[in-house]
Amino acid sequence: VKALLQNRLDALQAAGILRDPAEPLRERAFHAAQRIGVPLLNASSNDYLGWRSQPVSAADAPPGAGASRLIYGTDPAHPALERELASWLGQGSALLFSSGYAANLGTLAGLAVEGDVVVSDALNHASLIDGCRLSKASVVVVPHRDYAAVEAALAAPRRGHAWVVTEAYFSMDADTPDLPRLAAMCRSRGASLIVDEAHSLGVFGPAGTGLCAAAHVKPDVLIGTLGKAFGLQGAFVCGSAELRTWLWNRARSFVFSTASSPLLAAEASQRLIRLQSADAERALLASAERSLAPALARFQTPDGRHGPVLPLILGTEAAAAALAAHFADAGILVQAIRPPTVPVGQARVRLTLNARMTSDDLARIGAALESYP
Ligand SMILES: Cc1ncc(COP(=O)(O)O)c(C=O)c1O
Repeated sequence: VKALLQNRLDALQAAGILRDPAEPLRERAFHAAQRIGVPLLNASSNDYLGWRSQPVSAADAPPGAGASRLIYGTDPAHPALERELASWLGQGSALLFSSGYAANLGTLAGLAVEGDVVVSDALNHASLIDGCRLSKASVVVVPHRDYAAVEAALAAPRRGHAWVVTEAYFSMDADTPDLPRLAAMCRSRGASLIVDEAHSLGVFGPAGTGLCAAAHVKPDVLIGTLGKAFGLQGAFVCGSAELRTWLWNRARSFVFSTASSPLLAAEASQRLIRLQSADAERALLASAERSLAPALARFQTPDGRHGPVLPLILGTEAAAAALAAHFADAGILVQAIRPPTVPVGQARVRLTLNARMTSDDLARIGAALESYP
C-alpha cells in the first residue's frame, strides 16, 4: 500500500494540491518570527474572540462522557448547555454534537430523506456537502447566492419536502446571503431553511446571536459550533423539540458517537454567559478590520465581503503561495486556499482577525500587506 499511496501522493503533488503534514509554512513563519524577535502571529485561526487558549474554569464536570447519549452518556452538563443555547438563540431546543462536521453530516443526512430535495449553495462547507452526499434526497447545487436558482429549484415538482441549506457567513468568501429573502422563499414554497452559523455566532448580532438574529430570521434548523468563537470544541443544532427528537433518533453521527466532553459542555455554559456580553470584544474585532482597510485596498476581495475574515484573491495557486510565504517571512501565519477548496483561478490567501490582536499585531499585518510586491 506504501507504493500505491506514494503514486497517489505524487499525483496530488503534480496537481499542486499536496498538503504536507510537516507544515513547512508554519516552520518558516516560526523561524522568521524567532529571527526577527517577534511572537509568531497566527492570522488564520477561527478563534474570533481570542478565547482558545484561556484555561478551562469549569473543572467540576468529567472530561469524558464514556458512551453515546443514547447509551447513557448524558451528563447533566449536556442538557444544561442545550437549554442555554436554545434560549440564547430563541429556539425551542438544541442538541450537542462532537463537532460541526459531525453536526452537519448527521443533520443533513438524517433530515433529508428519500423523495426530498436539498437546495445547497455551491460554496457551502465540505461538511454540508458531505451531509448532502450521504442523504438519500436529491440535491440541487445552486450557484453562490443565486436566488433565482433557489426559486427555480423550489418551484420544481417534488415528491417530498424541500430543504434550503446555506451558511450565514461563508468562511472562504466572508459574505452573507440574503437570509430574509431565503426565509421568505422557503415560507412561500413550503420548504425549510437550514442555516450554518459556524463563523457568525459570537461574532455578529445582538449578544453574539449571529446573522439570522441580526436579520430577524428564525431558521427551521440553526447549526453552530463551539470550535470557533467559543474557542472550544463541539457543536450544536437548534430548532423545535421535534427536530431534537428526530436527530436523537436519526442523526447517525450523533447516535453512534461518544457524547461530546461534559467538561467542555460545562465550560461552554460559562463561556456562553461571557459571550453574550462580549460587545467590547466584538467592537475590537470590527475596529481591527477597519484599521486594515487602507492596506487591503490594493487586493481583490469577494463581493459583499465583511467581518473578520479577509480573503485576498490572487488567482493562481503560485501567487497565493507567494503571498502566504511573504507573510511567513514576517512571522505571520496565514493560509493559502487553493482549489478544490475554492474554484480554479480563485486561489486566495485568507486572513482572519481576532479580538485579542494588539495594535502592534495589526501593524505587522498591515506592513506585510503593504510590502508585498
Ligand atoms: C461553515 C462551517 N461549518 C462547519 C464547520 C465544521 O465545524 P467544526 O470545526 O466544529 O467541525 C466548519 C469548519 O471550518 C465551517 O466552516
